[in-house]
Amino acid sequence: MKTLKLCIALLMFFLQGRAQNYEEAAVPVYTLPDAFVGLHQQKVSSVHDWENFRRKEILSLFEENVYGKMPRDFDSIRFALSPEDKKAMMGRAQLKEVTITVWRSGKNVKLRLILFIPNRRKRPAPLFLLIDNRGLADIDPTRKVKSGFWPAEMIIDSGYAIAAFQVNDAAPDNKDHYTEGVLQLYPDQVTAPDGMKAIGCWTWAAARVMDYFETDKAIDAYRVFVVGHSRGGKAALWTGATDQRFAMVFSNCSGNTGAALSRRQFGETIKAINTRFPYWFCDNYKKYNDRVDALPVDQHLLLSLIAPRPLYTTNATRDLWADPKGSFLSPTEAEKVYALYNKTSALENNPPGANDPIIRSVLGYHLREGVHDLTAYDWTQFVRFAKYHSRR
Ligand code: GCU
Repeated sequence: MKTLKLCIALLMFFLQGRAQNYEEAAVPVYTLPDAFVGLHQQKVSSVHDWENFRRKEILSLFEENVYGKMPRDFDSIRFALSPEDKKAMMGRAQLKEVTITVWRSGKNVKLRLILFIPNRRKRPAPLFLLIDNRGLADIDPTRKVKSGFWPAEMIIDSGYAIAAFQVNDAAPDNKDHYTEGVLQLYPDQVTAPDGMKAIGCWTWAAARVMDYFETDKAIDAYRVFVVGHSRGGKAALWTGATDQRFAMVFSNCSGNTGAALSRRQFGETIKAINTRFPYWFCDNYKKYNDRVDALPVDQHLLLSLIAPRPLYTTNATRDLWADPKGSFLSPTEAEKVYALYNKTSALENNPPGANDPIIRSVLGYHLREGVHDLTAYDWTQFVRFAKYHSRR
């Protein structure tokens, strides 16, 4: 029976060329691009070589081939605060709602930020920022709706500030409307083969939110942690890679073009993601739909760009689409870049069992029992990880 199932999976895999494979035995043999060997075979053996040469090269390879260019220029930025509620959450937190307006060439984009800061604190508060790819209800400032997707009370009670912005402000998550946000400021990017699309815009927005945090004295801008789930998790990783002001990165069930290794072609593939979501990544990425081996990067290199900062990734047992094994292998592959900085990771060769989080490691990880989601369980581990690494 098992052999028959495998034969059918293999047959589908080869005949349809769709590569929606869920059988480990059908994962092709692959060779990953080496973090320490440049495009022209230059070898890297020190932090200096990594930071001054290979890291930059990898970052531009991701910009050119995957996420698109990250524009850094704009004319002005303004932060407008609504009247604050100093006694939100029954007195436990202060609520700030900030509208961030960014101008470039006469056009502007508005990003709305929701921010709770714990009232019981002696110093500026460290903060978790969620890139919210779900509805506004999940980040309800009134707290009438309380969602495990953004358990604000629990985070406040743990001593952290918590913030969120909704991705649709930056780029509507829709193939016909994604240009109606940040891209209005950068019209050239829309037609360029390496122009950023929706996920690049969400990442750009996270950087503008960080610009705000740097002005807020109640926030410890040196301890701002970015969090994202699934498509938001892909954006969180790209944020950590492109903006080193973020001190830690938490990427939950991010799957393909997130933490999962693309060359494994397990679950969602590059072709599948580009077909369903042609407006997430740059147009050049589509060239690799049927030639993943030609891609000069794979996702372990994206994770490596976050080194030496602590990075936590997760999976769920029933989220095969996101390739739990491939998403565990990529942080283990990134370990060697962390090792350059003498940061040791406690990841083992095989993924841990369900609900057995790895916290005492610069590369943290857990496999949650259950389905594709971001839950209070996940956040509880994020807080443990942040606390552990803040002490160090
Ligand atoms: C789809 C998509 C994934 C993505 C997920 C999500 O399943 O194929 O790549 O991560 O949506 O964002 O929930």
